[in-house]
Amino acid sequence: MWNETVLTRALGIQYPIIQAPMAGGPTTPELVAAVSNAGGLGFLGAGYMSADSMRAAIHRIRELTDKPFGVNLFVPERDEQVDLTAVASMKDHLKRMVPHASGVADEIENVPIEQPSKDQFVKQLEVVLEERVPVCSFTFGHPTAEEIEELKSKDIYVIGTATTVEEATTLEKMNVDAIVVQGYEAGGHRGSFLGFDESRLIGSMALIPQVVDRVSVPVIAAGGIMDGGGIVACFALGASGVQMGTAFLVSRESGAHPEYKRAILNSRDVDTVITTAFSGKPARGIRNAFINSMQHYKGAIPPYPLQNALTRPIRNWASREANPDFMSLWAGQGSGLSREASAGEIVRRLVQETEEILDRFTRIMIK
Ligand SMILES: Cc1cc2nc3c(=O)[nH]c(=O)nc-3n(C[C@H](O)[C@H](O)[C@H](O)COP(=O)(O)O)c2cc1C
Repeated sequence: MWNETVLTRALGIQYPIIQAPMAGGPTTPELVAAVSNAGGLGFLGAGYMSADSMRAAIHRIRELTDKPFGVNLFVPERDEQVDLTAVASMKDHLKRMVPHASGVADEIENVPIEQPSKDQFVKQLEVVLEERVPVCSFTFGHPTAEEIEELKSKDIYVIGTATTVEEATTLEKMNVDAIVVQGYEAGGHRGSFLGFDESRLIGSMALIPQVVDRVSVPVIAAGGIMDGGGIVACFALGASGVQMGTAFLVSRESGAHPEYKRAILNSRDVDTVITTAFSGKPARGIRNAFINSMQHYKGAIPPYPLQNALTRPIRNWASREANPDFMSLWAGQGSGLSREASAGEIVRRLVQETEEILDRFTRIMIK
């Protein structure tokens, strides 16, 4: 059977379909549980969560499902020197984007300049260990060898994220159990951790088989997979599972803003771009007024997570005002294929499409 792979056996799930962790609100406990209950693997994007809210979300997921699920964390960056002139100039630029009366300009002015700290990550990791979350994945790098060992000693399945062959082989050396291979098409932040430039934007069709050739752990394909055809293609390239974000963003259980969902459902193939404008880190989303305005910005964009903190007041304001022009509309290149439905229906449709395509192939081959 197509759905019995090393991954489904290791994770104890029915279908090798993972709902991508999406930090910042979309992956509600309801979404995570609905996907796991439908036989896939639901994932909580906990990157921005405090340890307490993460624990509460895990408890809620466990109330809603007794099936396996995952939690995803952001590996903190090494400290970068903060250029205070660049920050002041960015604040001025951002303040000019919002109406004076909104009070958002004051919020931007008062954003504290904090160095990235490992404390939050350490506390999040403690919650994962204490709660014995079945699966834990990471993006933007990998934890230390000791941290990975500790997770594995508690029978937690550890997944890393790679955007190049070199990142994948590095993760395998760190002893992860499986690797998410994120192609150029993917929505949201690039998981890159060994540098970033244009040459590292590799499409899934080229990247998946090259990683499969070089590592022996299961490969989970991510980026632009929206239907059964995408799933079959990734399996043909050697993947043992798929991770899909944009397809689940528009699901009924997703916490994405209704205007964000609408923008995805109305999008076309040419609507997404990769930008550092929102967070200081490259990420793919639907082009809007904010991205366009930042394209004319001549100064340097402060690094992640500082830029993310600087733009947060604008994004929160856009959310309150239901104004998609200033929201971060993260989405993959396949967003035009999005279909509105419940998460359970999406999983069932994906399974049905995959089986129909495989059945058609088998009949062609028998002829
Ligand atoms: C809104 C959004 C938020 C995301 N947040 C995370 C995250 O917190 N952690 C992570 O590992 N990947 C994150 N991703 C990337 C996904 O894991 C995955 O690589 C991507 O969704 C695959 O491309 P697709 O959106 O075309 O399916 C996010 C993607 C989106 C669209």
